Amino acid sequence: MRWSVEVNWRGDLSKASARHKSSAPKHDMYPPLLLLLVLLVARAGAGAAAPSNAHACASAAANSYPFCDASLPFPVRARALVSLLTLDEKIAQLSNTAAGVPRLGIPPYEWWSESLHGLADNGPGVNFSSGPVGAATIFPQVILSAASFNRSLWRAVAEAVAVEARAMHNAGQAGLTYWAPNINVFRDPRWGRGQETPGEDPAVIAAYSVEYVKGFQGEYGDGKEGRMMLSACCKHYVAYDLEKWGNFTRYTFNAKVNEQDFEDTYEPPFKSCIQEGRASCLMCSYNQVNGVPACARKDLLQKVRDEWGFQGYVVSDCDAVGIIYGYQNYTNSDEDSIAIVLKAGMDINCGSFLIRHTKSAIQKGKITEEDINHALFNLFSVQLRLGLFDKTSGNQWFTQLGPSNICTKEHRELAAEAARQGTVLLKNDNSFLPLKRSEVSHIAIIGPVANDAYIMGGDYTGVPCNPTTFLKGMQAVVPQTTIAAGCKDISCNSTDGFGEAIEVAKRADIVVLIAGLNLTQETEDLDRVSLLLPGKQMDLINSIASVTKKPLVLVITGGGPVDVSFAKQDKRIASVLWIGYPGEVGGQVLPEILFGEYNPGGKLPITWYPESFTAVPMNDMNMRADPSRSYPGRTYRFYTGDVVYGFGYGLSYSKYSYNIIQAPTKISLSRSSAVDFISTKRAHTRRDGLDYVQVEDIASCESIKFSVHISVANDGAMDGSHAVLLFTRSKSSVPGFPLKQLVGFERLYAAAGKATNVEITVDPCKLMSSANTEGRRVLLLGSHLLMVGDEEHEFFMEA
Ligand SMILES: *[C@@H]1O[C@H](CO)[C@@H](O)[C@H](O)[C@H]1NC(C)=O
Ligand SMILES: *[C@@H]1O[C@H](CO)[C@@H](O)[C@H](O)[C@H]1NC(C)=O
Ligand SMILES: *[C@@H]1O[C@H](CO)[C@@H](O)[C@H](O)[C@H]1NC(C)=O
Ligand SMILES: *[C@@H]1O[C@H](CO)[C@@H](O)[C@H](O)[C@H]1NC(C)=O
Ligand SMILES: *[C@@H]1O[C@H](CO)[C@@H](O)[C@H](O)[C@H]1NC(C)=O
Ligand SMILES: *[C@@H]1O[C@H](CO)[C@@H](O)[C@H](O)[C@H]1NC(C)=O
Repeated sequence: MRWSVEVNWRGDLSKASARHKSSAPKHDMYPPLLLLLVLLVARAGAGAAAPSNAHACASAAANSYPFCDASLPFPVRARALVSLLTLDEKIAQLSNTAAGVPRLGIPPYEWWSESLHGLADNGPGVNFSSGPVGAATIFPQVILSAASFNRSLWRAVAEAVAVEARAMHNAGQAGLTYWAPNINVFRDPRWGRGQETPGEDPAVIAAYSVEYVKGFQGEYGDGKEGRMMLSACCKHYVAYDLEKWGNFTRYTFNAKVNEQDFEDTYEPPFKSCIQEGRASCLMCSYNQVNGVPACARKDLLQKVRDEWGFQGYVVSDCDAVGIIYGYQNYTNSDEDSIAIVLKAGMDINCGSFLIRHTKSAIQKGKITEEDINHALFNLFSVQLRLGLFDKTSGNQWFTQLGPSNICTKEHRELAAEAARQGTVLLKNDNSFLPLKRSEVSHIAIIGPVANDAYIMGGDYTGVPCNPTTFLKGMQAVVPQTTIAAGCKDISCNSTDGFGEAIEVAKRADIVVLIAGLNLTQETEDLDRVSLLLPGKQMDLINSIASVTKKPLVLVITGGGPVDVSFAKQDKRIASVLWIGYPGEVGGQVLPEILFGEYNPGGKLPITWYPESFTAVPMNDMNMRADPSRSYPGRTYRFYTGDVVYGFGYGLSYSKYSYNIIQAPTKISLSRSSAVDFISTKRAHTRRDGLDYVQVEDIASCESIKFSVHISVANDGAMDGSHAVLLFTRSKSSVPGFPLKQLVGFERLYAAAGKATNVEITVDPCKLMSSANTEGRRVLLLGSHLLMVGDEEHEFFMEA
């Protein structure tokens, strides 16, 4: 067995993760055995240490070296540092747990910290037990915050997480390099990590990634590669969205992606994350992309640097290099794997694999020291930008942060705000909600997670400051709140608890049943097999619905879509809410929404498919429908089947209507540098008579951007915070082109009985275009519709 060495360490793993209630893997990591090695190296490796905030150039011995000279440009300092290291010292830098270089005064550094929706200790870089900071604010899981469709919220959350991260770093308990956000497209509803992403729409994910990275990195100073407060990482590049399904696992899965889907689905979030967000890290994924391991895709990694202007480091997912030979049999030796990834442009490996095999790769002539120097240059450049080689820890505002900046009232309020804005009202018969506080003296909460603090965060959750469970939150509002689990756990394999739950439900004025998913069904290394509620949860709902005095309120937890068609039709279920993984303040937010203190306005960032979708092979990466093989397509842009709830769906306690008050009737592409365009680049005509132009032939995409002014009327009696989603589609339905696509969104306040205007700018090149089968972006000419709610506006696009 190739992995026999690691297997010996297995015994220790249980200890390493004992604090976590879940036995599910918590790490971006190949099998536990490998994970453990990393942890061990982190703790015990020579010269290596867990979280530290030590500075390289602080000592008198070090600070005469040129790499410590702040007056020199970063690239010069990075090269100077590389030139001082011996080969062994260089190799010891190629792991997330980078060794120190004591003779140069350089302390060890741990690259792997996590911050997806708050600080998380999935990696060794964040440690809640090694200093004064024992907890950090847990914001809602990303999929729920995404449902707010509010860029300012995304930015604010990223900034708050950054404050806590930097404060925890200053306390010596966290690093400066974080491996978030996860911006893979939530392509299949079964994906266990879809919850970590902003959903299924590449444009929404792209927008989220830009806010996250800008808010988190807090780039400042001048120059192209500025100084940063922290480093964020766009992951996982690319086409990674399958954990373990059928015979497939993420470690060996070969994602077969055609050029069309690659260009307009899989890649755009990464392009925005790097180009606009200016992220300083990119993580390459485990899977292969069309037969080549992602970390070995030289063509792609070079494009990121050369075409998108990436200035940062490329990290492999954990042990993604070891598996290239060990599991994928893609190379003939471990040394070949190292050669192929270093030459492709990967700079650092999460795991200890490069520490162990790089020397022999050199000895066997597979790589040269120059290949390593390249990687080190990128790594040191990022560390320099982060101030790790400054002589002092500096006097910027963020260097003054400390434990008192973590778990603050403001962050708690922001976490609550994110849960409020994201929660989606899916059904509300006869305006059953909001409840009137004066009419409810006794409320019952039923469900296995009603009093479970662990449900609140989803995966990549650290230690919460002060979690409010659904029970605790309700009790604070309705003193007579009773509870019954109904099922022993979320898998709900037995009806044993039903009797008690029925008794509790009968006595209450109002019953809120909390059903859905937790990490038992969906997480890292685990995809779902069904979209239905787990086990006998549906039976529980049925039993309770038949005994309650008033119709039931059903609350769904979890990140992935659930087929709740039964509840849609059932008159005994008045209202359905989706609350995702609402973060540590989720229990406070639920009663706020139920009693109308907050008017829900979240919208689904992912299509809720019916159970029949599970007939679609999860390994099929095609986005487009193919009727010839009964393939229904994926996501609202291409899916042709029935939905339970569609992308962008979400009700409110108000009713909104729209009026497009100003929008172009004609867009002339030749408006951009007319002469050139018309004379040299003609619009193409397809065999079916449809005209299109290639986006790359349009001289100035900037000049064809246009504004749409929409009047949003709140026809209800409650003020609301409301997300406006603007779509377009071509009037001619062309095979391979999206059924519709989101071209803009904006969240606004709409006072009851009033109309509010909003302006949305549309970038046709970027958001109205679609890829052709060769992977080139084209814009269809002819009639298009702008669509917002039921309102449509036709306009003509001509060359
Ligand atoms: C966290 O810190 C504690 C106390 O220093 C230490 O015992 C533990 O091993 C650390 N955990 C990790 C994962 O490094
Ligand atoms: C898994 O492999 C078995 C045996 O090769 C095969 O019968 C089965 O169809 C495969 N399942 C999937 C989902 O591909
Ligand atoms: C790699 O080779 C091993 C041993 O020859 C084999 O068991 C394994 O299935 C192969 N893996 C893949 C992904 O082809
Ligand atoms: C899922 O919820 C159950 C309660 O039903 C809890 O016992 C379990 O710890 C949770 N598991 C995970 C992995 O979140
Ligand atoms: C519940 O049943 C499912 C499917 O029958 C099974 O996979 C799971 O292990 C069971 N869970 C528990 C906690 O018994
Ligand atoms: C968007 O989120 C920000 C940050 O929480 C908030 O201040 C703002 O009011 C939100 N906008 C709307 C319309 O709800």
